[in-house]
Amino acid sequence: MKRVHSLMRVTFFLALPGMMHSHLMAEETPASPGVAPQTEIVRTEKSLKEAVAKRFKMGVSVNNGVMTHPAEAAVLLRHFDTVTPENCMKMNVTQPTEGVFRFEEADAFVSYAQKNNLEIVGHTLLWARPENTPEWFFKDGDAPASAELVLKRLETHISTVAGRYKGKLAMWDVVNEALADSDEEYLRDTEWTRLLGEEYIIKSFEYARKADPDALLIYNDYRCDRPGKLKKLIRLVQSIRAKGAPIDAIGLQAHYEYGMIPFEGIEATLQAMRELKVKVVFSELDMDVVTRQRWYEDDGKHQEELSKFDPYPSECPPEVLESQAAQYARLFALILKYEDVVERVTFWNLHDGQSWLNDWPWKRHNHPLLFDRNLRPKPAFDAVIETLETPVQ
Ligand code: G3I
Repeated sequence: MKRVHSLMRVTFFLALPGMMHSHLMAEETPASPGVAPQTEIVRTEKSLKEAVAKRFKMGVSVNNGVMTHPAEAAVLLRHFDTVTPENCMKMNVTQPTEGVFRFEEADAFVSYAQKNNLEIVGHTLLWARPENTPEWFFKDGDAPASAELVLKRLETHISTVAGRYKGKLAMWDVVNEALADSDEEYLRDTEWTRLLGEEYIIKSFEYARKADPDALLIYNDYRCDRPGKLKKLIRLVQSIRAKGAPIDAIGLQAHYEYGMIPFEGIEATLQAMRELKVKVVFSELDMDVVTRQRWYEDDGKHQEELSKFDPYPSECPPEVLESQAAQYARLFALILKYEDVVERVTFWNLHDGQSWLNDWPWKRHNHPLLFDRNLRPKPAFDAVIETLETPVQ
């Protein structure tokens, strides 16, 4: 694959840590006394967002650290037009204790994004797993909280968090992971469901719309490409919409595994959402190359063995990178086929070294993204660019 070079200059007023690579150059300008030297980082590879050419948004999830790291910020600004905060807008960070709101990180994130013309996706107002809802939500002193109290707290949380950034965010992941994993159950069995049934999802969307009327409101979940879960997703969209919930889009988390991308299921989901007139975002895209499926099989009996499995500690073998590239290319070709439905594609983290898949479900060196640990574009990057530049048949 041929890489055509173009120039884009990103200037930072910070010293450049780390190394130089063939696709980027740093030029230092002499500093005046007492002023830090300016480092200009020039990346020479093509730009993802330019290759997308506004057919959908090109996003990435990052933490605030990226913004103060010149080489990482250069990748961010060259390739992406949309950012999602990886953690700092979640309930456990914004309201760890009832009434104690913490916005330092989220404010810094929003301010950086605005200064750099990046659209922002809020993530997430409600993550419907027990471990992702602060315990105080369901307690009333020593007694369990009533449905009314929980709903009141939900309204306060959403109106405070979404209200703070009113007009500044393009989209919100309103509710995350509410559907049950098993095919038999509809909603995940949690305090939310036990107290309120579907009502907590409907109300979350209503509160979010009221707090930030112009934001695109998303229901976000994983593995909706499985037939059983897709059925439940369709049921959820139809049911909450019929009851007045202002849902605009669904988010497919898209945490795929190498060699196992469910292309047919993804296409079935895209078709179903096109019929329902609901937009789709690929909200958390990556491709695990030290795959995790076996971790969960046979009641977890392979976990001890897998916990020592780390096959690519330094470099990922070229044949794996090439195959990963082909799989990413096929995925983007499918996305382009549904560009009328797809609103955004967001990678979950900027480069391989930052991926959550290095730690979960066990520690290993993973290589799931388009940029390697040294910020070099991988074969998958070239494959995605080539796919984006190929005219759709
Ligand atoms: O900030 C603390 C630090 O103070 C502490 O020393 C350290 C010790 O473990 O933990 C740090 O917090 C970690 C946090 O990430 C920030 O690094 C948490 O333990 C860790 O659980 C948390 O993981 C995040 C996870 O969501 C849970 O919130 C991952 O970074 C993040 O990538 C992941 O993202 C989720 C999406 O929000 C929803 N979809 C699934 C996706 C992957 O799990």
